[in-house]
Amino acid sequence: MPQLAYVNGRIQPLADASLHVEDRGTQFGDAIYEVCAVMNGQILDWQPHLVRLRRNLAELGITLDMENGPLTLQARRLIARNGHKQCIIYMQISRGTAKRDHAFPGAAPANLVMTVRRFDFAQRIKQLATGIGVITQPDNRWGRVDIKTTGLLPNVLAKQAAKQAGAFEAWMVSGDTVREGSSTNAWIVKDGRIITHPVGTAILPGIARSSLIHLARAAQMLVEERPFTLAEALAADEAFLTSTTAPILPVVRIDGQAVGTGMPGPVVSRLADLVWAEVAQQTGWRA
Ligand SMILES: Cc1ncc(COP(=O)(O)O)c(C=O)c1O
Repeated sequence: MPQLAYVNGRIQPLADASLHVEDRGTQFGDAIYEVCAVMNGQILDWQPHLVRLRRNLAELGITLDMENGPLTLQARRLIARNGHKQCIIYMQISRGTAKRDHAFPGAAPANLVMTVRRFDFAQRIKQLATGIGVITQPDNRWGRVDIKTTGLLPNVLAKQAAKQAGAFEAWMVSGDTVREGSSTNAWIVKDGRIITHPVGTAILPGIARSSLIHLARAAQMLVEERPFTLAEALAADEAFLTSTTAPILPVVRIDGQAVGTGMPGPVVSRLADLVWAEVAQQTGWRA
């Protein structure tokens, strides 16, 4: 079965799907996006993703001429037509197609595209046994990284640096504060306290992040939303990251130095049980 994509109301083969060369997403990064996990054919945390998508559109003044109901139907239709039970759906909305000019075009309708890719979530459960390594990179992004825009060049360069270093992720550090990863949120555990950077304008408010805070607090675990330094991270008992495509992974090395024992620890293991139980509860999916 060919891969299918959605472009402005039409589902078509991915190989033929395209936007105009003057799409503002291409020319200016003038676009927002969402990535959602689909397990057992069900979209995880769909409502919070929709809320964030709408907030991002509002922050940038992009008008999408489609309500949440039809958007949900189109997303589900594309997932069903692609036929993958475990996949991710990528949705991108740009300010539209217009003659290149920095200021907003008058009446150009937004461009909405969606793609679906098969994704192996079971690998994330296997990775819980070993954990992953991260490197650090200077956070040289703009001042509104809370808006999920396609302007991701610093994130791309940071992730490539991680890949070249044989690491899974790059943690973006500003001054001595660890903010987040290039595509994940960053966490440490010290004396049983679970610590992550607060939301605001300096990090992306991750959906996996907010779900984990909710689950941890419901289980009477202590969560502190406050900035933490790289020195604190290196001296932490445990560390981990979260995202849609890596719902929870232990971080066992930072810049080649072991975190805690250098092996995944008990707090992350307990959190992972909570996270994957929530996935099973919402979608029915079990590895
Ligand atoms: C910079 C950044 N931080 C954090 C995240 C994690 O967000 P979510 O949990 O919504 O996937 C992402 C996801 O793409 C990201 O790009």
